[in-house]
Amino acid sequence: MSSFVWMKVLESTPERYDRGISMLSGGRIGEVYQRIAEIAAVPARRVLDIGCGTGAVTLACATRGAVVTGIDINAEMLDVARAKPVPEGGSAVFLQRAAAEIEDLFGEASLGAVVSCLAFSEMSVEEQDYALETALTRLVPGGVIVIADEAEPATGFRRLLHRLRRLPVVVATYLVTQTSTRPLAGLTGRMRAAGFAEVTQERMLSGAFLIARGRRP
Ligand SMILES: C[S@@+](CC[C@H](N)C(=O)[O-])C[C@H]1O[C@@H](n2cnc3c(N)ncnc32)[C@H](O)[C@@H]1O
Repeated sequence: MSSFVWMKVLESTPERYDRGISMLSGGRIGEVYQRIAEIAAVPARRVLDIGCGTGAVTLACATRGAVVTGIDINAEMLDVARAKPVPEGGSAVFLQRAAAEIEDLFGEASLGAVVSCLAFSEMSVEEQDYALETALTRLVPGGVIVIADEAEPATGFRRLLHRLRRLPVVVATYLVTQTSTRPLAGLTGRMRAAGFAEVTQERMLSGAFLIARGRRP
């Protein structure tokens, strides 16, 4: 699997994003999208997808009957999402909004699930913590949060290898986009600190990809 840092380059050509992210994941990103939707799934309940990009996770949740709002700061990524057909039985709305705005967009205890894929690694730790704390208040009791993103492998040697392989890609991506991403660190601890219960995580894609979930008590 290539490094997901390249996704920053893909975001500058949104019409190529889906194909590119599939290549970066060795053709396995679809499994991740389906897994997120599976964890979040309860038909017809309201779901928020933070950093929805071209809408893959939003539409995977809608396929399971959810009423989903996808938010993203990138208007061109949203154009690609809006051009996709919405599956029958569910609904999907795409808004150009930042994670920092979810407090204004949704009332307290109004969402059944909050999901996010490959977007937290583009946010500062402060933005991530704000999103976690606000998501908690916007979820109904028992509502679920699912965060999926690049994370450093758990064990020492694989972590070192991951950092070494990532470094040249970070430099190349920065030269092209003047931005980069950072693998998630300490996410489950911060989810617990934000107030989530039953926090667990699973690894996918050879250990360098994390899906963390928790519930509002
Ligand atoms: C790598 S893409 C992932 C898109 C999609 N979730 C997926 O898994 O294919 C990351 C997306 O997060 C968006 N993003 C980054 N920071 C954000 C923020 N603070 N608020 C909302 N969206 C953000 C970017 O614009 C981009 O479309």
